Amino acid sequence: MSAIAPDLAGLLARRVASAGPALMRAGAAGAAGVIPLTYGFPDPGSFPVAEVTEATRAALAARPGDALQYGPIAGAVPLLELLVAKLAGEGIRATPENLLVTAGGSQGIDIVTHLVIDPGDAMLVEAPTFIGALQTFRNAEARIFEVPLDPHGLDVDALESRLASLAADGIRPKLLYTIPTFQNPAGVTLSAERRPRLVELARRHRFLILEDDAYSELRFDGEPLPSLYSLDPEGHVVQVRTFSKILAAGLRLGYVVAPAVLHSRLLQLKVDVGTSPFGSHVAATYASDGASLTGRLDAHIVRLRAIYRERRDAMMGALEEFAPDGVTWTVPSGGFFTWVTLPAGLDAVELLPAARAAGVDYIPGPSYFAAGGGSRHVRLAFSFLPPTDLIEGVRRLMGVVAQVRR
Ligand SMILES: Cc1ncc(COP(=O)(O)O)c(C=O)c1O
Repeated sequence: MSAIAPDLAGLLARRVASAGPALMRAGAAGAAGVIPLTYGFPDPGSFPVAEVTEATRAALAARPGDALQYGPIAGAVPLLELLVAKLAGEGIRATPENLLVTAGGSQGIDIVTHLVIDPGDAMLVEAPTFIGALQTFRNAEARIFEVPLDPHGLDVDALESRLASLAADGIRPKLLYTIPTFQNPAGVTLSAERRPRLVELARRHRFLILEDDAYSELRFDGEPLPSLYSLDPEGHVVQVRTFSKILAAGLRLGYVVAPAVLHSRLLQLKVDVGTSPFGSHVAATYASDGASLTGRLDAHIVRLRAIYRERRDAMMGALEEFAPDGVTWTVPSGGFFTWVTLPAGLDAVELLPAARAAGVDYIPGPSYFAAGGGSRHVRLAFSFLPPTDLIEGVRRLMGVVAQVRR
């Protein structure tokens, strides 16, 4: 190919050379007999199949010409109405001028990235961060700089120092990508005290915050915290959200909540003649209980919290029971993941073949870092499997850790 299309070959080399690990290409199940603690797939048993079937029939009966036709790029009207109501319930006063329905949170991340980043532009990410987002930033050829996390989320002091040192080198990041609540992969949450400080830094240093809020609805303990977007709704924050974790990942529905001033530009970047009008009409029909536009979805989310809380507790209990000395982990108050740190001297990449041979799989830490490192870490997902499998998976993994340590 290089002989006939040298430019294309160069482009492919740049993009593919920096590709991260295959993201969910293999699906969640993995090899036979191996317990996958790998992907953040929702609990398949939680999908409300009967209600979605009924909502599909009802949506097709009520609005066949809308559900089966191309749709508005910003989103199908009933879904936008649902979102306005849902956000109002969270204290966010959004109008359709703030909203863009997307193909999952993933497309939201992609569009916002392309709104802001030209090849070579600097941006900031948490270390560690979501693999899919890292891949998007690499595709956009961003220069990615990392900011560490601690148990209270993004280390805002470290961010401030990082901004100062970058400024001294003449570099001004245009975007910061953060998952403040129940972070993927670390399971930590940005403290209430740090949230306004982070927004203030964005104002002062004039970067846009891309707030990925995939998990905040799945809270098991404690009170909800204000989203970064709610702290600066017409300012420096764009929020990306998803129906994947609260209804069905297969719908491929998410949305962007953005300052109105960015809306027309975001619309221009979204070249798709509407995000699944069919799925959107089904989701909006499903979500309403007749009395409230979000009533049935809200009740479903309450059930999901109980399911995932039980799984979180099972995984935490198993770690307490089986982890040898020197292993530590985060205790998430919501979401899908815990972040395990292996004892000094152990390497999660080197450990993986032995873990698979022992019948358990995971994603090692380095995949979640823009600049490598993190080899003592393991992300464990507690979302996909029932408690008995989670406990057995952790038992197997910790057995391997204990054996290697000896
Ligand atoms: C932090 C985070 N953001 C975004 C996504 C993307 O999800 P989707 O495209 O299914 O909405 C995920 C999925 O795992 C995630 O963990």
